[in-house]
Amino acid sequence: MAHPLNDFEDNGLLKPGHYSLQVGAPGPESLKKIADYLDDASKKLREQHRFEESLQYGVVPGTHSVREAIAQFLTRQYGQPVERDDLFVTSGASSGVEVLMKHYFTQEQYIFAENPTYPVFAMSINKDQVMKGVPIPIESDGLNLKVLEEKLKELPETKLTPRRPFRAAVYLIPTHHNPTGCCYSPEKCNKLVKLARKYDVLIICDDVYNVLSYKADVSVPGKFEYSPQRLFAYDRKTDPDYKGNIISNGSFAKIVAPGLRMGWYEAPTHVITSLQDCYLANSGSGQTYYVAHLVAEALKSGSIDNHVQMLRTKHKERMDVAISTVEENLSKYGVTITHPEGGYFLWVKLPENMDSAKILELSKERENVTFVKGNLASICGDFSNHIRLCIAYYEVDDIRKGVEGLCRVIKSVLEK
Ligand SMILES: Cc1ncc(COP(=O)(O)O)c(C=O)c1O
Repeated sequence: MAHPLNDFEDNGLLKPGHYSLQVGAPGPESLKKIADYLDDASKKLREQHRFEESLQYGVVPGTHSVREAIAQFLTRQYGQPVERDDLFVTSGASSGVEVLMKHYFTQEQYIFAENPTYPVFAMSINKDQVMKGVPIPIESDGLNLKVLEEKLKELPETKLTPRRPFRAAVYLIPTHHNPTGCCYSPEKCNKLVKLARKYDVLIICDDVYNVLSYKADVSVPGKFEYSPQRLFAYDRKTDPDYKGNIISNGSFAKIVAPGLRMGWYEAPTHVITSLQDCYLANSGSGQTYYVAHLVAEALKSGSIDNHVQMLRTKHKERMDVAISTVEENLSKYGVTITHPEGGYFLWVKLPENMDSAKILELSKERENVTFVKGNLASICGDFSNHIRLCIAYYEVDDIRKGVEGLCRVIKSVLEK
């Protein structure tokens, strides 16, 4: 039999007794609950005689009622207003980025990205060559803006038109970053918006973890603080020099279910208008139309708000266990970690000359533990002494066992 192509095919590495800590997806317990919510949502669609409507080609940015349900959900989850008319339903965040790159740019144009960044983005930008990828270092409060501006100054002159209003793109994950877990400071967000306007660049923010803050709200037991404000909100329409340079590229993959393949853009009006005239829209009409109706019903019922609250509680517990296990076992050897306050990932830095590829080989062989090697999260292959661990897929006991196994392997190599 051929080898599985990924972790999910044929159960791949997701076998009992294996700890596949590279998997950035919700776990089976979470999806079981989602299956029930979507079942109820489906019944409601039927009762309202809107099931058939959802099976037709549809309104390009998404039906009013669907966009309204998403806007209300995000307003509750962000603690900040989200306008229905700023939303455009997509087939998820990966598709969302690719559509924007192809719609606005050519293969000769540049896309700047954090170093490290989302591993699949890093791998694909080199392989697919949809645009030319340029890594920019990231600090604990966001991108190194000095380096970014130096690069922006070197951009070739481009004739801008209403169809092609940007000279380059910047791809960011400003909230609960994948893989470092960091969030951008308000100061960096303000400066980024200014740079985007000055150099006419489009900033695409993968906002897929933004509602998954697990920073405790000390004033209300059991509650969590909102995640920091998304970059899109810093691009104020009332500013005299507003042009509309930021897109929030959201997804339901991490908070509802990846298999739905549904997300949204929160975008400037000129972007929403422009996208209605692309091939996908003209030929394909509304994206993921049936799923969007189903998800909207679930959002209206409040079940997804409750689900997100449950995820935050569980993720906090799992992240705390992962952090304390690494610190108790490895701090004395100079291994350091980030301390994320939301999202899926823990970023582990091994001593300088240690290679995570070797650790992966050993941990797979001895402990059935796998993870993402740090260099995969870099367009230029940096971070070979880093490890990305995901805390979202497994329940807390398995997170503990998996991370303990990994620590044993690292310790044995360090003590050699
Ligand atoms: C930053 C980031 N963007 C996009 C995705 C994928 O989103 P989607 O499943 O909606 O395509 C992921 C999943 O790991 C991610 O971490």
